[in-house]
Amino acid sequence: MRPRVWQVACTVDHVAEPADYFEYRCGPYSILIVRGGDGMLRAFQNVCRHRGNSLCAGSGAGLRELRCGYHGWTWDLCGILKRVPNRKGFGALAYV
Ligand code: FES
Repeated sequence: MRPRVWQVACTVDHVAEPADYFEYRCGPYSILIVRGGDGMLRAFQNVCRHRGNSLCAGSGAGLRELRCGYHGWTWDLCGILKRVPNRKGFGALAYV
């Protein structure tokens, strides 16, 4: 059984304003903590759902979307898939 423990990823000061983000790394894992435009804090695995490319690195402000640099799949700051360029061949995708 894997141990389950809380991890301190960052402080609220790191993501105080809408569109602030912070990448938390723990071993092989990368988690993105993002404050959305609605003021909510969310954490996402920093992994593109297409082929696993990382979406964002480091920390900063002014993030407008989560866009994979490889093929351009794009999510809003709530984690909703918004755009899949060249989607021919993907069939129906759930935009969640
Ligand atoms: S690996 Fe991210 S869009 Fe393809």
